[in-house]
Amino acid sequence: MKGKTTIVAAGLLCVLGASGAFAQTKDSKMIALIARGKYLVNLGGCNHCHSPKVMTPKGPVPDETRLLSGSPSAMPVALPAEGTLTPDKWGVGTTMDLTAWAGPWGVSFARNLTPDKETGLGSWTEAMFVKALRTGKDMGVGRPILPPMPWEDIGQSTDADLKAIFAYLQSLKPIKNAIHDPIPPAAAPGGGN
Ligand code: HEC
Repeated sequence: MKGKTTIVAAGLLCVLGASGAFAQTKDSKMIALIARGKYLVNLGGCNHCHSPKVMTPKGPVPDETRLLSGSPSAMPVALPAEGTLTPDKWGVGTTMDLTAWAGPWGVSFARNLTPDKETGLGSWTEAMFVKALRTGKDMGVGRPILPPMPWEDIGQSTDADLKAIFAYLQSLKPIKNAIHDPIPPAAAPGGGN
């Protein structure tokens, strides 16, 4: 009887040991994927447009406390003055933190890429993310994604790289920040130029 209990216990330990090792490989694979994603996000310059900034004497730098949370909703949308954005002068204008952009397409606001459910990519699937960047359509199915989001370039990355970027973005601290809806050209200053 005693012998049998020992065998069962040893068997259990064996199973537990194996699943522990499996979980560890899964975890280390995920850690490697996230690290690769972070590397690609840095290389892809996503912080330039998608992170709010703090001002320094050298200019705006990404605010480490709110990385990739998109164009700050608290920032008033002060549109460039009428007639300042014409193709023969300055064709495109941007806010000091480079998160909102005005041009012939109207005004676009860099999206919140953190995994917040309501305002970020929290409810997005990996497939949606890959499709959006490949097709240039909002969430892979909606309206065209507006400039200056360089989806044409980023969308040429391999599936593995896009999935790594998504894994990194989903690993960020979720930040609630509802970005503005784009402003159509007719409603923007110098609209239609
Ligand atoms: C030059 C500025 C700029 C850079 C660099 C940039 N983005 Fe964007 N991105 C934007 C803007 C602006 C929007 C909002 C466009 C719109 O509303 O259609 C956007 C939108 C998005 C969206 C939402 C697409 C959708 O389906 O609506 C995703 C996802 C995204 N960017 C990911 C990234 C990633 C990942 C990187 C880096 C590899 C990156 N962006 C680099 C400006 C930029």
